[in-house]
Amino acid sequence: MKRALLQSLAALALSLQLAAALAAEAAPGKAAIASAHPLATEAGFEVLRAGGNAFDAAVAVSAALAVVEPTGSGLAGGGFYLLHRAADGKDYFIDAREIAPAAARSDMFLDQRGDPVPGLSVNSALAAGIPGEPAGMAVLASKYGRLPAAQSLAPAIRLARDGFALTPRLHDALRGKQRQFAADPQVARNFLRDGAVPPLGTVIRQPELARTLQLLASKGLDSFYKGDLAKRLVAGVRAQGGIWTEEDLAAYRAVEREPLVGSYRGARIVSAPPPSSGGVALIEALNMLSQFDLTHADSALRKHLIIEASRRMHRDRAIHLGDPDFVQVPVQRLTSMDYAAGLATSIRTDRALPSQALSGLGPGAPQGPQTTHFSVIDGDGNRVAATLTLNFGFGSGRMIAGTGLFLNNEMDDFSMKPGVPNGYGLVGEEANKIAPRKRMLSSMTPSFIELPDRVMVVGSPGGSFIIGMVLNATLDFIDGRSAAEIVAAPRIHHQYLPDVVRYEPGALTDAEQQSLTARGHVLNASPRRWGNLQAVIWDRSSGRLEAAADPRGDGVGKVE
Ligand code: GLY
Repeated sequence: MKRALLQSLAALALSLQLAAALAAEAAPGKAAIASAHPLATEAGFEVLRAGGNAFDAAVAVSAALAVVEPTGSGLAGGGFYLLHRAADGKDYFIDAREIAPAAARSDMFLDQRGDPVPGLSVNSALAAGIPGEPAGMAVLASKYGRLPAAQSLAPAIRLARDGFALTPRLHDALRGKQRQFAADPQVARNFLRDGAVPPLGTVIRQPELARTLQLLASKGLDSFYKGDLAKRLVAGVRAQGGIWTEEDLAAYRAVEREPLVGSYRGARIVSAPPPSSGGVALIEALNMLSQFDLTHADSALRKHLIIEASRRMHRDRAIHLGDPDFVQVPVQRLTSMDYAAGLATSIRTDRALPSQALSGLGPGAPQGPQTTHFSVIDGDGNRVAATLTLNFGFGSGRMIAGTGLFLNNEMDDFSMKPGVPNGYGLVGEEANKIAPRKRMLSSMTPSFIELPDRVMVVGSPGGSFIIGMVLNATLDFIDGRSAAEIVAAPRIHHQYLPDVVRYEPGALTDAEQQSLTARGHVLNASPRRWGNLQAVIWDRSSGRLEAAADPRGDGVGKVE
């Protein structure tokens, strides 16, 4: 009781301190955008130069990414927008996550014996949830933006119609899909030449997508969900064996939710609430870590503690998290300091706790070029952290005839059967079971990390790796690292199951490897690097703005 009171007083003091700092702040004056593609970053600046704010820029960047980074996101996908509006100093959250169609059933991806049908939740038209991204952009534009949505969509329409040069990341992703894409005339026409992946720099034009975007510009973003386009979407999905209906589209709503707020070492953490698991897990892990003195820990101990916190946060994710409109998610409990302090008592500094001591095992999966994140601060101090997705690269890789839209395969983010891992090796329980019109659980973690004198807008793609990346970025930011250092830092990952520590080349020194192995960790060197973190930092005391795109990707961070 006394402890809870002290925590409340500490949180109040932190809020007052931050409120004072915010009240004193001058607006940044300049703007900063970091996204996964230079042309998407540029689309955002084009709209800012035309008088738009960060929210208009977010519409422009989202639409542009749907064109130039079709692996990561698209209009037939979904995502989350975390907003800070400078005028009232408040944070907002737009949940544009996909929902299961009304005809979805909890056993729809299982065979008669109750076993998962291989690939059905990933490769088929049944894998597609009802899209949320256009509805999310509609809320951004109409409630928070200054410009007509048509103006913010203009750069994307131009990029789809006139084309853009093929970049290395998209080139690699196309090579992975070449055989599937060669069999689909519309996809092949857009992305291949004579059935093969064209050389780098080839101009990629998507006329059908340009027409779809043009339609949304002239009739409004909500026209995605009704009328001719909705009819075409439903017919296109059903022709491929899907179960969408016009009623599903008409019933879709983006939902505005309260962002989650926590604190760690003087920082205010603002992040995504359920149906994302990101904010709960991030705050829970930071609360656990606050029980230890990370600043004075040697590097191996620091990594050990982060791994142990990650193990526990991912376990809770698997058990408790789901769509809050369908299940009771114990957010208060999971994000309370008392709960974290209890969990932290099971963390030994000298030994790893095997995940099997908590539950059974499931396999992991490699992470492809899926999902996307961008970060924006405008000259007035408005902010957007947006993470958008089709789930896997190009979603299911299936295109809806005549629309230029790739279908998401977000249904795989549900738990199709308790304990059966999804495509990311993540297990789940009843809370994330499939149900009609339910939102599938996500790991996307768009976040603001606020210190009295600095703020970071951050997030990343990377499936089950996302939360750990944002956790490490948060710790690095609080330690005073620059945006460029934060996005480039080598990564380690633990997700409870499988019980292994994956690490990027260069992420662990020999001494750290020995120290972690001696503690009982199983280390797994990843041949590939993962994630595509985008960070924007505003230092209020110096007035300096930084924008950095992850060097693992093709993106660009720019200040102007
Ligand atoms: N589709 C990845 C996620 O939402 O976590």
